[in-house]
Amino acid sequence: MRHCHVAVIGATGAVGQEILQLLEERDFPLTRLTLLASGRSAGTRLEFRHQSHMVHVLTAEALQAVDLAFFAANAEASQAFAPLVAEGGGVAIDCSGAFRCDPAVPLCLPAINAAVLPRRGGIVALPHSITTQVALVLAPLHAVVPLRRVLVTTYQSVSGLGRRAVQAFDQQVRDLLNFRPVQPRFLPVQMAFNCIPQCGAFTDTGYTEDEMAVMQELPRLLAAPDLAVAATAVLVPLAHSHAAVVSAELAAPLAVDTARQQLQQAPGVVVEDDWQRQRYPSTLRANGQDAVFVGRLRADPTSPNRLHLWVVADNLRRGAALGAVQVAERLLAGQG
Ligand SMILES: NC(=O)c1ccc[n+]([C@@H]2O[C@H](COP(=O)([O-])OP(=O)(O)OC[C@H]3O[C@@H](n4cnc5c(N)ncnc54)[C@H](OP(=O)(O)O)[C@@H]3O)[C@@H](O)[C@H]2O)c1
Repeated sequence: MRHCHVAVIGATGAVGQEILQLLEERDFPLTRLTLLASGRSAGTRLEFRHQSHMVHVLTAEALQAVDLAFFAANAEASQAFAPLVAEGGGVAIDCSGAFRCDPAVPLCLPAINAAVLPRRGGIVALPHSITTQVALVLAPLHAVVPLRRVLVTTYQSVSGLGRRAVQAFDQQVRDLLNFRPVQPRFLPVQMAFNCIPQCGAFTDTGYTEDEMAVMQELPRLLAAPDLAVAATAVLVPLAHSHAAVVSAELAAPLAVDTARQQLQQAPGVVVEDDWQRQRYPSTLRANGQDAVFVGRLRADPTSPNRLHLWVVADNLRRGAALGAVQVAERLLAGQG
């Protein structure tokens, strides 16, 4: 593709900013850039490759002749506008979750299932950030011994709720440290110095949206339709990076040493696992990094087929933007 007109929808947001950063860092071969958001930030200017770009309101006209559109706004915007990009022959890469359960739309993480990418225009859905980090660690194990059941408990940072939630969180921390009353925002209770068992709205199953995302996406992404997954998602008082405790039940026993070796060979996975030297990845380790970090590998004393792992990644960079940009890179490479 000689001419590549790229649009970033939600360019002023947490994920949109990270996408722009990666497009710049990875020298993505775009020839034209359109930045879109809501009316709230229309007219603001953002720097890209030392040039100032105006942010415009998302409209159908603004998406005309766009080859690649990164959707990093909300699900409603993706539902309304991603099909227009696809109908125009372009590719809409959706980070919002709007199409994650649509069987007609491929759910893709290039490191796991690049083969599902369309050859021409269409919509590609990216998995949730927690699914991404968990799947990148489970896929190499699943390749050796099939997974049967996965239990995930997450420790998610406030940036998972977007840029304004991080600002509200910072404000709450400042208020508390200055003995001022705290105004709960985004959730019914304060986010600062608190752990909250709610990430996303509740669905009618009693699970939250983020929990449902992992439960529905993992079997799809790993091409394991019979894989049973249950999740509990917890918001923790951190600004960046998500952690997850993963309990993986396999079809047969897998020695911890073999699992560790598998993970050490997996691209994009960094194993930091040496309990005798108190070596394990914390969330700070993952901030700003492309890799997924894994540690605390343990056998389960109650079941020989089960392993426990601790998985950490930068939710904005590894969990959202990098997958989206890698999809774009693959598509471009495929088109010569
Ligand atoms: N945060 C994460 O860890 C993460 C990870 C994976 C996927 N995601 C998904 O990625 C998307 C963006 O998340 P985020 O965390 O970046 O949120 P965010 O920081 O709140 O940013 C939202 C962006 O969308 C724009 N926007 C909002 N409503 C819009 C509308 N009606 N039309 C056009 N643009 C609109 C906002 O523009 P204004 O500046 O004009 O308000 C802003 O640029 C969400 O769908 C989220 O579920 C997030």
